[in-house]
Parts: sequence; structure tokens; C-alpha cells
Amino acid sequence: MLIRKFILAGMFALLALAGGVQAGGNAERGAKLVEDCVSCHGHDGKGNFETPAIAGLEEAYIYQQLKDFSSGKRASMDGIMHLYTVERNDRDKSDLAAYWSSRKPEELDP
Ligand code: HEC
Repeated sequence: MLIRKFILAGMFALLALAGGVQAGGNAERGAKLVEDCVSCHGHDGKGNFETPAIAGLEEAYIYQQLKDFSSGKRASMDGIMHLYTVERNDRDKSDLAAYWSSRKPEELDP
């Protein structure tokens, strides 16, 4: 009886772990952090003549770029992306990545 309880608990723990990894960042929370991004990348994340589109990119790719900008590993014009990432913690970066990756460019207004 006790053994069965242990096995069940173990299975639930594994499920929770798998769910957490799969979900990645929290896009809903990320949506509340974008006021800094939209002035350059646009509300739709499509970018403009000087800023690249960020909507719909791979979540892992965006997250890595934000980390590299903040650490200085990746440079940007006038260090602008460093400025906008250096004070963001890891959770903000992964939630921002989840949000922008969830925005699909083809669903956006022309
Ligand atoms: C002041 C303007 C400005 C703001 C604000 C800004 N960005 Fe950027 N961003 C840029 C520019 C310019 C680049 C291109 C950098 C380069 O490669 O030289 C860039 C590049 C990026 C890239 C890399 C895209 C790629 O294709 O590799 C990502 C991801 C990104 N920005 C995300 C964000 C996020 C998320 C925010 C909000 C927290 C943000 N940016 C705020 C100007 C801005």
C-alpha cells in the first residue's frame, strides 16, 4: 500500500517536472513587461527599418539573445540592447522570450 503511494507521488513529481520544462517562460507575465520593447520593436514585434522583428522567433533563441546582450557577449548598435536587458533578471528574460515567441507575425495586422 505504502509502495503504491510512493510510486504515485513519484509519477506526479515527474509529470510536474516535465510540464515545467515544456512550458518555459510565462508569456502572460511577459506581456506585462513589454512596454520597454515596443517603442523600438513595435507593438506587434515586427520591428522597423532599424530594429529587427522579434515576434514569432524561437523562444530559446530570444532568451539566449537577451542573455548575451545583457552579459555583453552580443553587441548591438550603441549598446542599446545591453541597456534594455542588463537590469532584467533571468525570469523576466525567459518570460519576455515566451511572450514574443508566442506572437505570430502572420496573425498580426499588416
Ligand atoms: C531603443 C530601441 C530598442 C529597445 C527599447 C529594445 N530593442 Fe531589441 N533591438 C534593438 C536593435 C537596434 C536591435 C538590433 C541589434 C543588433 O543586432 O545590432 C535589437 C535586437 C533585439 C533582438 C535580437 C533579434 C535577432 O534577430 O537576433 C532581440 C531578441 C530583442 N532585440 C529583444 C528585445 C526585447 C525583448 C526588448 C524589451 C525588453 C527590446 N528588444 C527592446 C533595439 C531595441
